Amino acid sequence: MGNHNQKRHLSQFFTPRAVVEFMFDLVVFDPLWKVMDPACGDGAFLREALRRGASAVAGVDIDPEAIEAAQENLQEFEGRFRTFCQDGLMEIAGDSGFWKEHYDLVIGNPPFASSKWRVRDKDTLRRFTLAQFEDEKQALQLPLLGESLRPVKTRVSQVIEVLFLERFIQLARPGGKVAIILPEGVFANNNLRYVREWLVENFTIQAVIGLPRDTFRSTGTTAKTVILYLEKHKPPEGHQALLAELSQFDLNGGANPELEAVVATVHKR
Ligand SMILES: C[S@@+](CC[C@H](N)C(=O)[O-])C[C@H]1O[C@@H](n2cnc3c(N)ncnc32)[C@H](O)[C@@H]1O
Repeated sequence: MGNHNQKRHLSQFFTPRAVVEFMFDLVVFDPLWKVMDPACGDGAFLREALRRGASAVAGVDIDPEAIEAAQENLQEFEGRFRTFCQDGLMEIAGDSGFWKEHYDLVIGNPPFASSKWRVRDKDTLRRFTLAQFEDEKQALQLPLLGESLRPVKTRVSQVIEVLFLERFIQLARPGGKVAIILPEGVFANNNLRYVREWLVENFTIQAVIGLPRDTFRSTGTTAKTVILYLEKHKPPEGHQALLAELSQFDLNGGANPELEAVVATVHKR
């Protein structure tokens, strides 16, 4: 895999196959599912879905070379996948009706670059709840109701991984599943607390699994990353997510009791 030039400015750090397989095991993949990866690179996640028998798979990437590589890597599954070369944060061109709330599983590893990569385009930002904020400074007091009304405004910018997180969720059908690799900052940074609150209030988080730093070393980064697995519905009363930190990840796919224990725990819930 990965037979095109890696473009660092597009955050092209492709996911090792063992990690892709682990994520498919985690979600208990069903070949009847419609699958989407909105930042598919050379198609690692799409390939795994097709290898496991899926017949309705779609991928988006902004880089024409990545899309070409994906098409080449998926050749043997002709007729069972579609690819789109465009910005994954925008509606899928020529495919209206499919861009939102359509997929049983949205899975992948979107672009991120240690919070330095910010989207500033107003039209893009307007499409995302996580790019809006309630302006405390302009709050209107309503003394009779004992409340205040805060105008909702669009942020000047947002980090790309937060927009992709929301985009993955937008693309999932109600009740559908999302499995996404994110930088640890989304789960740790103080200034992204509102993102975690939005997730916990609105969705059923099944697992948050920290990956070891060297997981992506072969593709050129030691960024600390986390797998988030959620279902697109409100959490049931008393729901608890599994929080796990993997101490090692054998990228050759060797037996790993730690991974097996995580998968078994998630499946039991
Ligand atoms: C971290 S790589 C992951 C690729 C693939 N999902 C994988 O895990 O092997 C991120 C991918 O996002 C693509 N990308 C960057 N910005 C994008 C955008 N706005 N819309 C769609 N794809 C984008 C890059 O070209 C790159 O292929």
